[in-house]
Amino acid sequence: MRCFVNEAGTIFGNLLHSWRKPAGEMREGLEIWVWFRSVAGKQGDEMDQAGFSKTAVLGAGVIGASWTALFQAAGCDVAVYDPDPDTEDKVRSYVARAWPSLEELGLVKGRPGALRFCTSAAEAVAGAQFVQENVPEREAIKHALYAEIEPALEAGAIVASSASGLTLSQMQGGWRDPSRLVLGHPFNPPHLIPLVEVMGNAKTADGVVEAAEGFYTAIGKTTIRVNKEVPGHVANRLQAAIWREAIHLVLEGVASVEDVDKAVAYGPGVRWAAMGPTTLFGLGANGGLEAFLAHFAEVFNGWWDDLGQPKMDAQTIQALVAGLEAALEGTTQEEQSARRDALLLQILKAKQSGG
Ligand SMILES: NC(=O)c1ccc[n+]([C@@H]2O[C@H](COP(=O)([O-])OP(=O)(O)OC[C@H]3O[C@@H](n4cnc5c(N)ncnc54)[C@H](O)[C@@H]3O)[C@@H](O)[C@H]2O)c1
Repeated sequence: MRCFVNEAGTIFGNLLHSWRKPAGEMREGLEIWVWFRSVAGKQGDEMDQAGFSKTAVLGAGVIGASWTALFQAAGCDVAVYDPDPDTEDKVRSYVARAWPSLEELGLVKGRPGALRFCTSAAEAVAGAQFVQENVPEREAIKHALYAEIEPALEAGAIVASSASGLTLSQMQGGWRDPSRLVLGHPFNPPHLIPLVEVMGNAKTADGVVEAAEGFYTAIGKTTIRVNKEVPGHVANRLQAAIWREAIHLVLEGVASVEDVDKAVAYGPGVRWAAMGPTTLFGLGANGGLEAFLAHFAEVFNGWWDDLGQPKMDAQTIQALVAGLEAALEGTTQEEQSARRDALLLQILKAKQSGG
């Protein structure tokens, strides 16, 4: 049974429970739930979580531990399941390390949610309204997990997968009723990087994608909607495209690894932290994007024809490793990570105040 913050919620939670239906018949229940959430009024912490105050995190490695910190900071109770026997120590120390940044970014909303470690995935999802799945990127592992949790899920609970590589259709193959599964793909680390890519498809029940977006937004994320299934979703493809040309330029001897990285970090990368490429080029000429393209359309066509298609083979890897070693001049990975994290925090704060 779903428990909301007031009596009306409990009544509608019971109704929802009785409306639990197979794929394709969820619509009515979801519409009522969305309606309930809009009219019944939210109170206290519920305001900050779009109605999802009970969460579960399945798989608490790199991504799951970070989601756990953010959910807890947002005041959500988090039930964690990971078969690794050291999970509790690892997650608690991750959360402790993440907390100062979360506080600095204003992402700690009031009283932290309760953290609970479970001995099975089914135990973790029982009572959860929002489940974030972060198990290894292998179809068989995800499907086995879905088969275990599906009977234990609350009516109306949403399950979001962090999957970077598997598509939503591949993951839906593991469900009897996939109508409550969405893609909720973060950028590492999810407690800091705002982007979450959200996707549903024809098998997703009405309102589920919107409700997931509402939750992510309420806890401080910026969501985009992925409308069509492609490998790597959106942001990873963009990264791959830039990196491919960066590598091509290195392999062709146009510039060193250090200088190509500087070209990104001190040139377009600074602008991209402010706005996306099409918006920026729209500011590139008086008269907007059309005026800009009147001058530059053919220039871009020429550049695109000339872009490289390197392969990540042993020779490329060797060139990149050697180039990076020269660029780092003996600084340790820890020093580089600390510099990255400090800069990221400043950039995120600047973006928060600049909109
Ligand atoms: N690492 C990244 O940069 C990144 C970014 C975005 C999304 N993702 C996605 O997040 C998911 C997790 O990736 P990760 O990098 O955190 O992997 P990871 O290997 O760090 O963590 C996976 C965790 O899942 C646990 N696990 C294994 N089987 C399990 C099961 N049956 N039930 C519960 N837990 C189980 C493992 O013990 C491990 O702790 C993947 O789908 C990946 O594509 C990763």
